[in-house]
Amino acid sequence: MTVPDYTPEIHARRARAFGALAEEYERWRPRYPDDAVDWMLPQGAREVADVGAGTGKLTGLLLARGLRVTAVEPDPAMVAVLSRVHPAADARQAGADALPLGDASADAVVVGQAWHWFPHEQAVAEIRRVLRPGGRLGLIWNQVWPAEPWQTEVEALNARARGHEVDVQDELPDVVEVEGLPTEELEAALFPWTELLDPAAVRSRLATYSHVALLADAERDELLDQVTTVVSAEMTRRGTSTLPFRQVAYCVRWTPSAL
Ligand SMILES: C[S@@+](CC[C@H](N)C(=O)[O-])C[C@H]1O[C@@H](n2cnc3c(N)ncnc32)[C@H](O)[C@@H]1O
Repeated sequence: MTVPDYTPEIHARRARAFGALAEEYERWRPRYPDDAVDWMLPQGAREVADVGAGTGKLTGLLLARGLRVTAVEPDPAMVAVLSRVHPAADARQAGADALPLGDASADAVVVGQAWHWFPHEQAVAEIRRVLRPGGRLGLIWNQVWPAEPWQTEVEALNARARGHEVDVQDELPDVVEVEGLPTEELEAALFPWTELLDPAAVRSRLATYSHVALLADAERDELLDQVTTVVSAEMTRRGTSTLPFRQVAYCVRWTPSAL
């Protein structure tokens, strides 16, 4: 597999790649652990914006808490799935650089698996504008926790296809750093969790990663076949029909001192 250098153009193409996979995304991507969602939200929150909401993986968990949710997502195909799956959300087609929300109108802004796609300077200015005094930004990333050798093998195949390193935050950093945000005002937490997945689920989930979706067909099939082989071999070794897929949700929250 030949992977080109990771350029801003490739980053931008990947950020826009999700709509073509909207149904698969909804079917195969994971939810988020409840304790992580609770940790991100300020006490007494009522109105929350989920930005880069995708098909609503986080939106649904917010609605389940009785919150009023504005789900902001630039891709029309993702918005269509979100509106179908979560009709109670106020779904808006927009980007993080121009939030369709009034000044000081939200108790919290949350972002699931999407902060790395945003133009950070504009997004931070918009989040400051829409948050009420005392409001909070919460970020969450589900990360594969390669504690098991088979997961390390799958991640190595995945990393090769991605073409650049992604640090797995499997312990809390001494200094919390997130692009665009003031380090001294950030807090972080980790929430380990496990799903039971079969080979089809591991394969299908990987196929919803933007860097995998954008591979040439033959390269994508080769990668997914290699992953399926690793997962199937481990299941045969264990004599099971599913495997525990270990993950850790890395969360950061920011309560701006001055709004
Ligand atoms: C990996 S998906 C995460 C979706 C959802 N938050 C979740 O937790 O499943 C990343 C999402 O960010 C969206 N996105 C990309 N660029 C964006 C931007 N500039 N502003 C807002 N959302 C953006 C994509 O369209 C995609 O739906």
